[in-house]
Amino acid sequence: MHNMADTYILSNGVKIPAIGFGTWQTPDGESAINAVKEAIKAGYRLIDGASVYGNEKSVGKGIKESDISREELFITSKVWNTERGYASTLKAFEKTLSDLGLDYLDLYLIHWPASSRQFENWEEINIETWQAMIELYKGGKVRSIGVSNFLPHHLKALLSTEITPMVNQIEYHPGYMQKETVDFCTSNKILVEAWSPLGTGRLLSNPDLIQIAEKYNKSTAQICIRWCLQNKTLPLPKSVTPSRIIENLQVFDFEINQEDMQTINQLPYIGGSGLHPDEVDF
Ligand code: A2P
Repeated sequence: MHNMADTYILSNGVKIPAIGFGTWQTPDGESAINAVKEAIKAGYRLIDGASVYGNEKSVGKGIKESDISREELFITSKVWNTERGYASTLKAFEKTLSDLGLDYLDLYLIHWPASSRQFENWEEINIETWQAMIELYKGGKVRSIGVSNFLPHHLKALLSTEITPMVNQIEYHPGYMQKETVDFCTSNKILVEAWSPLGTGRLLSNPDLIQIAEKYNKSTAQICIRWCLQNKTLPLPKSVTPSRIIENLQVFDFEINQEDMQTINQLPYIGGSGLHPDEVDF
């Protein structure tokens, strides 16, 4: 990865920018509109959203008010847990499209798997939701489809369908590498996107990361983002602060050496969301 125009290529051949802009926890209204506009101005082309973030209309306005044409952008959204199932997924997709003010998406994801803790027929529910995703994909309403927060046992159930997931967006940051899930995705040609690459900001005061950052004359946030790229995942840093939005893209002018990559790879759990796909109660 050498510049911000670099891309990954999904299993269906679609190119996806190497870094995306996260909008989770970005307040609706001016805050989201401005953050998206700032991000696009700074050079982000992938905007990652979800219906449950409650800010899709504002994200859509930010996109509209930016000077970049729709085809140059890569817009992602996700179907929320209360909308699982075939018909409700199709309906949720239309609502997202209309809130964003767009006529297609680049990537649509199942936000969380239905889990055995909540449903006896969790596999069936996930497959039904997935069939709707396939329908949207085949109908040309979305250029690629995938899942989020799926562990290998959730993914396995989808691998025998006509079209398999192209992306799995999971929590991924130093101290929380989810190795088993990432390895499973890699061997099934599923690109891993990293949500909360900064551990929602909690990693930034970690002394080991600070020390490595100083060595490269970079910020701790930039180290976390670059580390994701060098581990072949796609980071989705979130910020509403213009200077940080820019800073988080300035990760193409240096390389973390193998030794430091190893040090970061071996960091113990420092902190994270604490959300486990089989344990969450939403
Ligand atoms: P803010 O949005 O107020 O700028 P993550 O992407 O891991 O979820 O982390 C997002 C959190 O990290 C937000 O609280 C965001 O704050 C903060 N953040 C994002 N980029 C930076 C940065 N470069 N330096 C410090 N904090 C950052």
